[in-house]
Parts: sequence; C-alpha cells; structure tokens
Amino acid sequence: MTLSELLKDVDVTSVQGNTSVKISGIAFNSTEVKPGDVFVCITGFKTDGHKYAADALERGAVAIVVERPIEDTAATVAITKNTRLALSQMAAVYYDYPYRKFRLIGITGTNGKTTTTYLVKSVMESCGHKVGLIGTNQNMIGETVIPAKHTTPDSLELMRLFSRMAEEGADTVVMEVSSHSLALDRVASCEFDVGAFTNVTQDHLDFHETMENYIDAKALLFKKCRVGVLNADDAACERMRELAECETLDYSTKIPAGILADNIEYMSTGVKFDAIYKGQTSKIELGIPGGFSVYNALTAIGCCLAAGISLERIANGLKNASGVKGRIEVVNTDTDYTVIIDYAHTPDGLLNILSAIRGFAKGRIITLFGCGGDRDRTKRPKMGKIAGQLSDFCIVTSDNPRSEKPADIIEEVLAGVKETDCEYVTIENRFEAIEYALDNAKKDDIILLAGKGHEPYQILKDRTIVFDEREIVLKLIDSSEG
Ligand SMILES: Nc1ncnc2c1ncn2[C@@H]1O[C@H](COP(=O)(O)OP(=O)(O)OP(=O)(O)O)[C@@H](O)[C@H]1O
Ligand SMILES: [Mg+2]
Repeated sequence: MTLSELLKDVDVTSVQGNTSVKISGIAFNSTEVKPGDVFVCITGFKTDGHKYAADALERGAVAIVVERPIEDTAATVAITKNTRLALSQMAAVYYDYPYRKFRLIGITGTNGKTTTTYLVKSVMESCGHKVGLIGTNQNMIGETVIPAKHTTPDSLELMRLFSRMAEEGADTVVMEVSSHSLALDRVASCEFDVGAFTNVTQDHLDFHETMENYIDAKALLFKKCRVGVLNADDAACERMRELAECETLDYSTKIPAGILADNIEYMSTGVKFDAIYKGQTSKIELGIPGGFSVYNALTAIGCCLAAGISLERIANGLKNASGVKGRIEVVNTDTDYTVIIDYAHTPDGLLNILSAIRGFAKGRIITLFGCGGDRDRTKRPKMGKIAGQLSDFCIVTSDNPRSEKPADIIEEVLAGVKETDCEYVTIENRFEAIEYALDNAKKDDIILLAGKGHEPYQILKDRTIVFDEREIVLKLIDSSEG
C-alpha cells in the first residue's frame, strides 16, 4: 500500500516528498517502528510524538505524519490538523475497514459497560452468532481470551483486533467505548450499527474538567451509529438525545419509553421483570442481583432489539447469561449467608453496590474493603463514610497497599467510618479479614468483598502475590466444614 492510498480519508493540509512510497506498517510509538513503516506523531499528555520523528526515521520509518512541520528532514512528511484522527483513519484503510465485516455495537456510560457487553454477547451467542468482545477485563473472540490493556484500545490496536475478529468469523462485535476513546478519536473512524448509553455520574473530571464536557464526549457515540439506545431515567439522557444524529430507542423503569421494565423483583440471586416493547411483553430473569442489573439488562435488550433479535429470544438468552467476574459476583458458597465480590473501588462505586445490595438484603450487610496505596488519598475517608452509612458492620483491611504502609491507609479510611456509628474492626491482612468475616457470618447476612473484583492478585510493598478472593472464600469454607 502506498502512503497516498493510506491517507485517502485523511484531511492532509500539505505534504513534502514522495507520497507513492510503499508503506508496510503504521506506528505511533517510535520504539515499535519497523523498516517501511509510516510514523504518526501524536501530541500526548505526557510527551509529544513529534520529538521522536528522528528516532523513528533511524529505525526505518519511510514517512511521517505530523501536526506541525519537522525541521531538516528529507523524509516524506504529511501535515494534518489532528494526527489522532489520522491514525484512526489510516488504520481503518490499512486493515480494510474491518468493522464493515460485522455488526458493531458500542456501549458507553460511567458504570455498567463491562457487565452489559457480556450480556449482549450471551444473548447474541444464544441466537447462534459468533461474537467478539472488547473491554476492561479482557477481549474475546467467542471463548478465546485476548488480554486487554485499556477499556478501549488505541485506534491501531482496535483495528488490528477488529481485523482478527473478522478473520475468525465474528459476525457481531460488542465493545466498551470509554469517554476518553471518544474524546481522543480512538474510535473516530468506526461505524457503529448500535450505540448505547448506560448512565453518567461524576468521574474522569481530571481529564474532561467539566460534567458538560464529559457528557458531550459520550454523546459523540450517537453521531457514529445507526440506532442509539438511551437510558431515559438518566439525567443526561435529554442531552444525548439532543446531540444524537441517529434513530433512538430509549428504556425506563419509571416513565413511558420504547422499552419499559414493569413488575420488578429484586432477589439476592438476581432480578426479574416484565419487559414491554411495542405491545409485546416478555418475562426477563437475570441471575445477577441489584437494581442496576435491571438497567444493564434493559441496555442489553435495547442493543439486541436494534440488532434485529426478537424480545422472546432475548429473554431466553438473558436467562442463561452469567455475570461478570468481579461485578456483583455471587460466590457459590452453599451457605445460609451470601458472599458477593465487587470491583467497586471508588466512593461512587461503593455507594452503587451497597445501595443495590440494600435493595435485596434480608440480614446484615458486612462490608470488607480497603483502598489502594499510591492512589488518590482523598477518596479514603469518603469510602469509609459511605461504607459506615450503608453497612451494619465494616471490616477495614488492605486492598493493593503497594509502597504505602497498610496501617496508614487503614487509618485514613477509618476517619470516615468513625463519622458514622457503624461497628467495625481493622485487620491488615486481607486473607485473615476474609476469614474473620466468614467465621462471624450469620443466617441471611450478605458479606461484600469490595475493591478487587476480577483481580486475581494483591500488590504489596515488595511483591505481588496470587490472591483470588473467590478461591480463598471457597477454600476457607471447605476447611471450616472440616
Ligand atoms: N448500570 C449500572 N449503574 C451503576 N452501577 C453499576 C451498573 N452496573 C454495574 N455497576 C456497578 O459498577 C461497577 C462497575 O461495573 P462495570 O464494570 O460493568 O462498569 P464499567 O462501566 O465497565 O466500569 P469501568 O469504567 O471501570 O470499565 C460494578 O462492580 C457494579 O458495582
Ligand atoms: Mg469496564
């Protein structure tokens, strides 16, 4: 492929040198440049790719794409206003628009993206489709797992993944679309068949600065899809609808909407409700508990309806859908109390999961949690207070202490717990803390292990240890039953 072919969708403002030069690959990290590549200079937050143009040429790059002129180089240089956008457009051409070879479903929102992608995958597979998934925990093609670095990969990696998914016969791909990926043009050249929005709460303001920017970044998805699935109960929904340039299908548990959830039941093992769509009603049963699981199910229903699946077949698919590792995950303990593992590691996440559990708890809520070391310290007392307000008993322990002294972190968390009148203990060693929780559990209690979710390890000062909470819980119960 020549450079000019690769640049065919890019708005090039000027070019110097020979654009019919043959290109064998694309790179934006100079250490990954191979001879014959074109190097795209991205203006980053930590560093600027323009500084590495010379290094890329030394490593064999035959052309450079930049946002501003590069001094003294004989190489072919193309200038464009936005190299992040250009990278996405060039990668799409290089991999021959792979997203046109399957139905692409994108899900954005502060919470619920990972969970909903898995629900959509389960339903589409139950209807005989081969499904690719891209998200926080991992990427998948059918049952094949491909490790993930980000919730949404960079645009080059994304096209590479799409290309592999198309090659391996995926006819549907469902992916998490983070607000960063929308704002940074990582999905700029993607054409979504369906886009969906779960909810918006405060998050990532270090990047977006204002909630308006954050919401508008997410709304970009609805300029890039055929059908937009919207949560009509979320405060940001009207703004999404206003900015959408696609057909929309909304859902609600409260007001008349395209899809309505009625007769909702909340159990510690899951949720049940009637889904009403165009005069049809189907009973939905989902084995994932919590109020927000009704919303994740509604989002998945909207996506699959927009993809042409009937409500009845969707209901069957959801019945067999399994939850996501570390997302309100009920551990199969076979005890008269329940153990739930959840990834919640922010004040909002903890508020969400504890409010959800409060919705179906019959006995006490015992919350075991900590806070990560070398991370945002301001959230520690906030999480302590939220746990104290919404639990009957708190066990404050270690999360990933990293280089910080576990006792110091626990002290900062406790400051928040002490603002409430909730009973608590502190146990630095997380294994012993789990043991304490199980030893003191009573009938109908719910023990929440919060913060580590799908992570099968614990990062300590001097080493990282294997630490899979569901295995630990089952082993401890086994050994206590002797
Ligand atoms: N629809 C929802 N609304 C609010 N909270 C939710 C919802 N779904 C899940 N949660 C809570 O948020 C946590 C994260 O859920 P999930 O991983 O599905 O979200 P995400 O959007 O993928 O998050 P991330 O941005 O970290 O990838 C869950 O562990 C659960 O406690
Ligand atoms: Mg996620």
